[in-house]
Amino acid sequence: MKIIEFNSHKEASEACAKVLISQIKSKPNSVLGLATGSTPIVIYQNLVEAYNKGEVDFNEVRSVNLDEYYGLSGNHNQSYRYFMQEHLFNKVNIKPSNTHLPNGTAQDVRKECSDYENLINDIGGIDVQLLGIGLNGHIGFNEPSDYFADKVHVEDLQQSTIEANSRLFDNIDEVPKRAFTMGIGTIMRAKKVILLADKNKIDIIDKVINSEVNPQIPASILKFHPDTTIYFSR
Ligand code: F6R
Repeated sequence: MKIIEFNSHKEASEACAKVLISQIKSKPNSVLGLATGSTPIVIYQNLVEAYNKGEVDFNEVRSVNLDEYYGLSGNHNQSYRYFMQEHLFNKVNIKPSNTHLPNGTAQDVRKECSDYENLINDIGGIDVQLLGIGLNGHIGFNEPSDYFADKVHVEDLQQSTIEANSRLFDNIDEVPKRAFTMGIGTIMRAKKVILLADKNKIDIIDKVINSEVNPQIPASILKFHPDTTIYFSR
C-alpha cells in the first residue's frame, strides 16, 4: 500500500481524477468502481471539466458503484443513484445502461446481491476502484466486524455511520439503517484501488497504516492488495 500526501483536498482530488482519466485513455471501456459521499465530489468535478474540454470520452466507460441505501429508490434525493446522476452521469457522455448501482428497492434482496456481484464479474471486474473511508474505517459500507465479508451483501449500518450520514437528511430518523454494499472481497478483486482521505480522517488512516490487518478496521485489508494508493490531504 502506497501513501501520497498532498497539501490540499483540491490537489489530492486532481491526482485521483488524473488516475481515472489515464485509465480511461488507456482502456476506453474501463470498468470504474465509484464512490459517493463528500470526499469524491471534487474528483467528479475534475472529470466533468476534462470531459468538457474534450480530454476524456466516457462513451464506452462502464461504472459500478460501491453501495446504495436499502429502501431508497434511485429518484430519492439521498439515494446514491441520485448523487451519481447529479455529480457525474448527467454531465458526461457515459451511457445510462453502462452505469450500475444496486437497486435499493429490490424485493428479492439475496438475488439483488448475487446479481450485482455477478454483473461485476461478467463485465470483466473492476479496473480502478475509488474509495473514501468512514471514520470507523469502513470501505463501501463494510462496517467494523469480526470477519471480512466477501461478496455484495446488505449491511446493518453502525450508529456512528448513521449519525455521520444524517448531515444530508432532514432528520436522523430518515437515514436508512441498512445498505447494499460491495463486499471486502469484491473491492479486493479490483485491479487497482485509490482511496482519497482528508485531514478529518487522519486518526483512522493512522490506524489503517499502523495496525495489523483486522476486520475491526475494514480498510486495513487494503495492505494485502497489490496496487492500492491512499491519497491523503493534510
Ligand atoms: C460511499 C462509501 C463510503 C464513504 C465513506 C466516507 O459510497 O462507500 O464508504 O466513502 O462513508 O464518506 P464521506 O466521503 O462523506 O466522508
